[in-house]
Amino acid sequence: MDELVNCSGQKVLVHLHMNILIKNATIVTSARAFNSEIYISDGKIAQIGKALKILEPIEKTIDAKGRFVFPGGIDPHVHMQLPTPAGFSSDNFETGSKAALFGGTTTLIDFVTPNKGQSLIDAFIDRKREADNSFCDYSFHVSPIEWAQNTEQEIRDCIESGITSFKVYMAYKNTIGLNDEDIFKVMHVVGKNGGIVTLHCETGDEIDRLRNDLVKKGNLSPEFHAISRPAHTESEAVQMAIEMSKITKCPIYVVHTSTGESAQFIENAQKTGYPVYSETCPQYLVLDDSKYHGIFNDTCKYVMSPPLRKREDNNILWNSISKGIISTAGTDHCPFNLEQKLKGKEDFRKIPNGAGGVEHRMKLLFTLGVLQNRISYNQFVDVTSTQAAKIFGLYPQKGEIAVGSDADLLIWNPKTESVISVENHHQNCDLEIYEGFKTVGEPEIVIANGEIKVENGKFASKSKGKFLKRPA
Ligand code: URP
Ligand code: ZN
Ligand code: ZN
Repeated sequence: MDELVNCSGQKVLVHLHMNILIKNATIVTSARAFNSEIYISDGKIAQIGKALKILEPIEKTIDAKGRFVFPGGIDPHVHMQLPTPAGFSSDNFETGSKAALFGGTTTLIDFVTPNKGQSLIDAFIDRKREADNSFCDYSFHVSPIEWAQNTEQEIRDCIESGITSFKVYMAYKNTIGLNDEDIFKVMHVVGKNGGIVTLHCETGDEIDRLRNDLVKKGNLSPEFHAISRPAHTESEAVQMAIEMSKITKCPIYVVHTSTGESAQFIENAQKTGYPVYSETCPQYLVLDDSKYHGIFNDTCKYVMSPPLRKREDNNILWNSISKGIISTAGTDHCPFNLEQKLKGKEDFRKIPNGAGGVEHRMKLLFTLGVLQNRISYNQFVDVTSTQAAKIFGLYPQKGEIAVGSDADLLIWNPKTESVISVENHHQNCDLEIYEGFKTVGEPEIVIANGEIKVENGKFASKSKGKFLKRPA
């Protein structure tokens, strides 16, 4: 029995960690595929093998015949309850983690963004409180938004507290963005202390100039958001980030890579042996900039940074995943309701940037990646789970199916057909950028830390997730 505190503050005994036997499983990891049984006990994978001998009582047996068993997904890039001038992003940790679990993602990495003048550690404590309601395990990347006297020590304190990845924004210069000199300082300190710097790569100053020029000429609709952030503003920032990484010897991770040219610079850096990792997101793989043509209420939901690109970019990014140049698919989940997007009806600069996707990431990568022969089953696991665990220090606790790993497992039915829609998604948002997308394959049962979280379309979670402390 596990002890839980209910909403009235009373302690109650609930059985969360059942002894579960999964039979007839086709286990797929990033490295292999094999048939076996899996026995789960006390939240961990206790045994893997054929005709297992289990001495304890088995409380649930799952017959996984005709299903795949994948490691639970890890989304390394989400923004729950992100404060913006148009209000908070519409999923908080409770609703967002629930949507994530429905889609087979069992671990989230969100962000700590301090207010000006606030210490990184204080901001971390506040953010951890906000994440208390998460139904799945979580961690954070911490964003220094200024370089102050104590920043170096605060970065070390974060690493001591189990946060080893940091995020800097090369755009958004008037709010959370850092100038190049300060990014250098962050990289230098983080690199020296065994961490990794993740970067939002867009040349902020140039974009601000382009945006203001467009608005002055009366170009106010959402399509000008995309026009104000041309492809070269990303790839030049990527090049700059790589140069800084070379000089500071700090490993870097380029978030939401959206253009083919950026992927090319990343590939060149990797070939030279630099620790440069990169992420893309489903929206940059399956959507393109034709979405910006139309009326405001249809196009505003695609306002995100970087913006959607060309079909050719989609193809290069798929290719880059299959070649291992892009390691992960995060979502940059940052949904806003129509009412919030409408704040920018008269001026695209006021439209809150971002869209949801945490629920659909795995389905989209499976349907349009695996089933379209763009990536293999093993690569699907690698890009949706294992690489994020490895890069961000969660491996092999997460991202793997092995004895001793957390029992975060998906019983995946490869044949289930569904249609993504605002009518049936669990994301707390009245907009859906993948509206009408037909998908094949989805998780029938989602297990996290040995607890059944979702079964046959029903949410079954009784417990909350925990903060994951990561080693440097
Ligand atoms: O448009 C986006 N991506 N909004 C969220 C913040 C960010 O840049 O990642
Ligand atoms: Zn970003
Ligand atoms: Zn983001």
